[in-house]
Amino acid sequence: MLRCSSGIRKARKEKGSAQPRWSKKLGGLRDGGVSLASDTANLPAFTDSVDMQKQKFSALGLNTLDLVALAGGHTIGTSACQSFKYRTYNFTKVGNGAMDPAIDPSFLPQLRALCPQNGDDSKRVALDTGSPNRFDTSYFTNLRNGRGILESDQMLWADTSTKTIVQHFSMGLSFNLAFVKSMIKMSNIGVKRGNAGEIRKICSKIN
Ligand code: HEM
Repeated sequence: MLRCSSGIRKARKEKGSAQPRWSKKLGGLRDGGVSLASDTANLPAFTDSVDMQKQKFSALGLNTLDLVALAGGHTIGTSACQSFKYRTYNFTKVGNGAMDPAIDPSFLPQLRALCPQNGDDSKRVALDTGSPNRFDTSYFTNLRNGRGILESDQMLWADTSTKTIVQHFSMGLSFNLAFVKSMIKMSNIGVKRGNAGEIRKICSKIN
């Protein structure tokens, strides 16, 4: 989390009608002035197993509940075809040109139509095909129905440690509250205050 002099972009979803809101003191959050590609290795990848996702979150003080709640951020936004198309044609974990068996077979034609085999890999597709612009729990219902877009998302339904949480949220229980709590927890990771770091003049680059 960093602060820019041009104004602070709060991590809020502006689209849906019932999106959660919370207040957080953002004053004093400063940028470390470092942007290294190598740091992204600490972030989960969309091919990571649930164990690996949990390990990477845990290293930042975030637990399994935080992982599932924050993955629920995918109720909004889009993914490039290249981040999931490999699941729909010749999924290498299975071989023989088969798809990822975790995908609902009746969803497959829709996915293939959105991202044709020789189509544009940069084309963007909603991460929550149930309701792309609404902050709601349909992302979790999708996982139950084999309709998750990212492999890392769909795996949350396959692993017993995360499945019960997905189940809980998909029933509309306490997702908003859990999301807010975990977002606040995440926004407190590695915060720089006082004279440490800097306030960027332009958000996209260090001063
Ligand atoms: C397990 C950890 C996570 C993984 C593996 C992951 C992976 C991804 C991937 C692959 C995309 C699509 C990127 C692209 O193709 O352009 C994406 C998009 C997105 N992610 Fe995550 N993500 C994770 C956690 C989170 C968290 C914690 C949040 C926020 C609470 C979040 C919010 C979003 C949003 C809003 C988008 C859509 C961005 C857009 O529309 O341009 N993700 N994520």
